[in-house]
Amino acid sequence: MTGPRHFLDLDRLDATTLRRLFARAIAFKAGEHKPVMAGRTLALLFEKPSTRTRVSFEVGAHRLGGHAIVLNSRDMQLGRGETVADTARVLSRYVDAIVLRTDAHHKLLELARSATVPVINGLTDRSHPCQILADILTIEERKGDIACRRLAWVGDFNNVCRSLVHAAGLLGFSLAIACPPELLAGDEPALAWARAQGATVTVLADPREAVRGADAVFTDTWVSMSDREGERKRALLEPYRVDGRLMRLAAPDALFLHCLPAHRGEEVTDEVIDGPQSVVFDEAENRLYVQMAILEWCLVG
Ligand code: CP
Ligand code: NVA
Repeated sequence: MTGPRHFLDLDRLDATTLRRLFARAIAFKAGEHKPVMAGRTLALLFEKPSTRTRVSFEVGAHRLGGHAIVLNSRDMQLGRGETVADTARVLSRYVDAIVLRTDAHHKLLELARSATVPVINGLTDRSHPCQILADILTIEERKGDIACRRLAWVGDFNNVCRSLVHAAGLLGFSLAIACPPELLAGDEPALAWARAQGATVTVLADPREAVRGADAVFTDTWVSMSDREGERKRALLEPYRVDGRLMRLAAPDALFLHCLPAHRGEEVTDEVIDGPQSVVFDEAENRLYVQMAILEWCLVG
């Protein structure tokens, strides 16, 4: 007997699955009505704050004919010591799928091991795969197949960056990451994994080198939620701000991407995030459609 179909990380999937998810996301965006969640309930379990993930999953479940309930771990017995495994077993008796946002990736894996319904990664300290699917859809809407494109990431090598590296391994675009060497110490398994898939992923200290000629430039907050290294990271990342001067080194029609929330004046200037190359609100919108595709994939294949 096979278990539920979880959506945990992009490095567990293949290119065909990703392509199928994009095709379904495009269909949902074009207005396809498919009530695959009729009579079904989605639990959204948060250990950390969220605007986009929460609202887009809630609306997505509703558009698929289903219902969503939002749970804050602090208000649950989970917050006072009930195990993740027991929580998974109990929720599986009530709901049809669970989205988890957590500080600790191992909790996502534990939830998936114990749940008898699909579990979806709504962001962990390791990765943010829903976000990167939305970002790639956003790029392809404007530039076509991403395979021949050059992308640049500027800033912290964080959860969003790691999912972007996984996507490079599957979809074949080249990726240049500009990150202070101090923040990428030691082995980073995602890099080795993507390179083993044949992807060109380079890590550079100089943001100008990473951005030069790029088709899309990504950044994200310098200090992620629950990151305890805030002051150190802010100091190290000061030269990695995406401003107009840096963007002008990219291709003239390069896109600017940021998963949001942005810390304007830190990782990105207003000029860039509010400028004509910015697609940050399209990324946020596309979360809805890729997640409808993910829900459909998890629930009905
Ligand atoms: N990008 C993203 O996941 O946003 P939220 O933290 O608001 O969910
Ligand atoms: N890297 C950020 C992403 C927020 C959506 C964080 O983890 O806080």
